[in-house]
Amino acid sequence: MKNLLITGGAGFIGSNFIKYILKNYPNYRIVNFDLLTYAGNLNNLKEEEDNPNYIFVQGDIREKENLENLFKEYTFNYIVNFAAESHVDRSINNPAIFAKTNTLGTQILLDAAKTHWQKRKDEQGYPIYRKEVRFIQISTDEVYGELDSEEYFNENSPLKPSSPYSASKASADFFANSYYDTFKLPLNITRCSNNYGPYQFPEKLIPLMITNALQNKKLPVFGDGMQIRDWLHVRDHCKALDLILHEGKLGEVYNIGGNNEITNIELIKTILDKLNKSKELIEHVRDRLNHDRRYAIDNSKIASELGWKPKFSLQTGIDQTINWYLNNKDWWKKIKNGKYQKYYQKMYENR
Ligand code: NAD
Ligand code: DAU
Repeated sequence: MKNLLITGGAGFIGSNFIKYILKNYPNYRIVNFDLLTYAGNLNNLKEEEDNPNYIFVQGDIREKENLENLFKEYTFNYIVNFAAESHVDRSINNPAIFAKTNTLGTQILLDAAKTHWQKRKDEQGYPIYRKEVRFIQISTDEVYGELDSEEYFNENSPLKPSSPYSASKASADFFANSYYDTFKLPLNITRCSNNYGPYQFPEKLIPLMITNALQNKKLPVFGDGMQIRDWLHVRDHCKALDLILHEGKLGEVYNIGGNNEITNIELIKTILDKLNKSKELIEHVRDRLNHDRRYAIDNSKIASELGWKPKFSLQTGIDQTINWYLNNKDWWKKIKNGKYQKYYQKMYENR
């Protein structure tokens, strides 16, 4: 039996990854450590609740004591850090929580892993760790900043984060790198493009547009809508993380992209067409401050080293995602009718 600590497992990607691991690795025990912020939702894991290989612990990666208690109780082989504040617009409204959670929280978690996994030190003072342990830091393509031409980000592209969110994630990457270089902590950093799929909180573009359209509400398009994102289905992302966790070369960064570049406006129109809804629902609103125009990922490293490539085309992925939101109205209506709606309304009106 191997023990896997998933932080932020009650969020969108974390909960999909927990389902993926429980399905594919019956000899893994998962501890989901999550603070349950507005984005953490235990309804994402209702079906897993009674699985003997799944344990939920509520806690905060910023609290050293929380982590010490956790590490006293379990011996982990792997740690995958999904815990974060993940929404760019919120980071523009309140940067401080992003620095605290994404940067400081990651450093505290890295330090806990170092202490927990260290067996002894060598003659030069470098830690020697237990065998077969690994830390995965889930980062983002946004750390590279924006692209405006035909270029693609590869793992050697310089980091030029432009929002408080991406600055906090880039800082976490620097900390993770420093723990590899200084303490030889066995780790990888992954940088993926925009994820979509089941269980995504309806503040992000695709679930917001699907659910607003289903409710015949306006679809807010920031600025001209000509910004380009590369869309990665969350299941393709989970497979890539599985490969990196088990076969990735230690100390390496891996980019993970969906090969699905599209402008926001084109994507929104596609969603409206698929739902048979009028384009009149589209409303152009004031642009996001310093809005990045384009992200795009060069997947060649993970493809050549680990044999990964995305399986979902955007068409198939969007169909599957729309069906999921159609079949899970209770899930998203509970969120949209709850506290989040008040916050969203205020943010939307203040644009
Ligand atoms: P999410 O917002 O859906 O989930 C984040 C989870 O982290 C929530 O369950 C929340 O309760 C938990 N959390 C927040 N602060 C915490 C703390 N202090 N301690 C413990 N748990 C805490 O996010 P997501 O979209 O699933 O993203 C997961 C990770 O992937 C993040 O690190 C994000 O930066 C990164 N990422 C996301 C995308 C995307 O498109 N969603 C793309 C690239 C990278
Ligand atoms: O690229 C990876 C990143 O993708 C992740 O690191 C972030 O956690 C994740 O939130 C996402 O960031 P984006 O800002 O790209 O995602 P979001 O869904 O917020 O917006 C996608 C695009 O759609 C962006 O250009 C802004 C635009 N947008 C978004 C919303 C919510 C709109 O035009 N209207 C909207 O209402």
